[in-house]
Amino acid sequence: MKIDILTLFPNMFNGAFEESIIKRAIDSSKVEIKLHNFREYTKDPHGKVDDTPYGGGPGMVLSCQPIFDCVEKLKGEKTKVILLTPSGIKYQQKIAYDLSHEEHLIIICGHYEGFDERICSIVDLELSIGDYVLTGGEIPAMVLVDSIVRLIPGVINERSHLEDSFNSNYLLDYPNYTKPRVFKGMEVPDVLLSGDHEKIKEWRYNESLKRTKERRPDLLKGDDSLE
Ligand code: ADE
Repeated sequence: MKIDILTLFPNMFNGAFEESIIKRAIDSSKVEIKLHNFREYTKDPHGKVDDTPYGGGPGMVLSCQPIFDCVEKLKGEKTKVILLTPSGIKYQQKIAYDLSHEEHLIIICGHYEGFDERICSIVDLELSIGDYVLTGGEIPAMVLVDSIVRLIPGVINERSHLEDSFNSNYLLDYPNYTKPRVFKGMEVPDVLLSGDHEKIKEWRYNESLKRTKERRPDLLKGDDSLE
């Protein structure tokens, strides 16, 4: 998979893809990630990429031209163009799965007060990572890349992500424990030491269900259905 990220702040990504699983995926050519500062594409003599909004109002709005030109240069036949904005549809694991099968993604990071609406005409998908407003799309882009790249076949053990929260039955993950058996007086549940795999499976399912009912009852209503 190829991922091109359009941003005015490429330095924000320093380090983000240079550790752990994403670094391994890059090193083994499972993914190629490139950053593009779209300020380099502006035709404005002063290097401007934004302007005041028509109709008045606070802040600046990202202009069409630099982003159109940058996308046009990078886009191929099988490219999916994504725009990160708090006004997008809510990003979910199901979308991460779908995107992990794409050949080429272009991710546009919005910034400042907003962007010229005509930019949406070259975008396939507008995504929000949650109901809060960040200063720009850079951190959401890191969230997207991390959650998509780990799902590319061969990047991590497939069993690991099949058991993720939000996959099987839309339940949150069950509690996990490792050695030692007792830590500061807190014990590992006996069932996990029993060696009885059927019982362990049942216990984990019940714990997942209990946790989901307490913390995310919306998932049980199927609001975030994978279908
Ligand atoms: N830009 C600012 N806030 C955002 C959000 N919640 N999701 C995606 N892009 C954003």
